[in-house]
Amino acid sequence: MTTRPPRFTPAPDGVDPQQVPQVTLSSGARMPALGLGTFGSDHASPASIAQAVRGALEVGYRHIDCAAVYGNEREIGQELARAMEGGLPREELWITSKLWNDRHEPEQALEACRQSIRDLQVGYLDLYLIHWPFPNAHAPGVDVTSRAADARPYIHADYMRTWRTLEALVEEGLVRQIGTSNMTRPKLELLLRDARIRPAVNEMELHPYLQQPAMVDYLQREGIVPVAFAPLGSPDRPARDRMPDDPAALQDPTVCRIAAQRGWHPALVCLRWALQRDTVPIPMSTRRQNYLANLRVTLEAPLSAEEMAALAAVDRHHRLIKGQVFLWRPGQSWEDLWDEDGLIAR
Ligand SMILES: NC(=O)c1ccc[n+]([C@@H]2O[C@H](COP(=O)([O-])OP(=O)(O)OC[C@H]3O[C@@H](n4cnc5c(N)ncnc54)[C@H](OP(=O)(O)O)[C@@H]3O)[C@@H](O)[C@H]2O)c1
Repeated sequence: MTTRPPRFTPAPDGVDPQQVPQVTLSSGARMPALGLGTFGSDHASPASIAQAVRGALEVGYRHIDCAAVYGNEREIGQELARAMEGGLPREELWITSKLWNDRHEPEQALEACRQSIRDLQVGYLDLYLIHWPFPNAHAPGVDVTSRAADARPYIHADYMRTWRTLEALVEEGLVRQIGTSNMTRPKLELLLRDARIRPAVNEMELHPYLQQPAMVDYLQREGIVPVAFAPLGSPDRPARDRMPDDPAALQDPTVCRIAAQRGWHPALVCLRWALQRDTVPIPMSTRRQNYLANLRVTLEAPLSAEEMAALAAVDRHHRLIKGQVFLWRPGQSWEDLWDEDGLIAR
């Protein structure tokens, strides 16, 4: 006798996924305007992240932001498979994964993508990103002074070899959309010059203290959707990404004032603001109450023009995920990763 998988049952207090707003990518594909982040970092185990994915699907999430380096795709895949076997159609899901820095060589990239698809048990990816524009990898849990022995600067020809592999994955049907992550404008300009398939999104740090209005505007003019990581200022980020002068967006007085006026948690102000700038936030949460509230805020009344203007004014251009471990020369500053002077650092 074969046992039937349990039926996928939406939570009665959840959000109807059909009501969640979607954004249209340049290809015409539609992606849910808010997703669930899955970077457990050093505080949320693969099992607790998988549990959150399961609960998030039940409350109406359809967009899950994954990455091989988060070390939990296999556990997440078990929950995705269980939901699909229980009747949730694959085509209702939007699954993103990312190529880690130690797999940029074409053969490795092909295999890494296939592995993510196998681990996630999804058959194909809706979106596959190059996680960082450098092939500089580091062991999990190292501190900010750690460097890969063979670390290199951005080399456009090398990046294009990896990008061509992603283009081939699209042609093969394993991946529907491809995109970038942690790219800067000068690097993107080269990619847009040379790509056969343009990036659909750029995933980047965006929250009230790092608003990057010029970059967001550039991406939107180029038809590239900005996907906002750390949209709450990543309050539980790894110890190596905490600096004494880092401000906390969830404690910002303007964010808190608007939250109090609306009877919301400050996190919801950050997400509503992100949605209204036409960026796609991917907040991570392992608490049902929080991830449900985060999804519900997509249906709340918009912030007023005055509230949006007040939030625009709190920007400090303060980057939390500085990326020091990806540097390639001794004595370098993390600013070299971000090309803020418009030139690609060598
Ligand atoms: N492409 C990249 O290089 C990159 C880099 C970093 C992150 N990411 C992606 O972006 C996702 C989000 O970033 P992140 O996880 O660093 O930070 P985040 O989403 O800004 O913050 C997550 C933290 O906020 C808390 N939280 C969530 N909703 C809340 C609510 N409604 N009220 C109060 N607290 C709330 C969560 O705690 P609870 O669990 O207790 O709710 C969690 O600790 C990641 O998970 C990952 O998927 C990508």
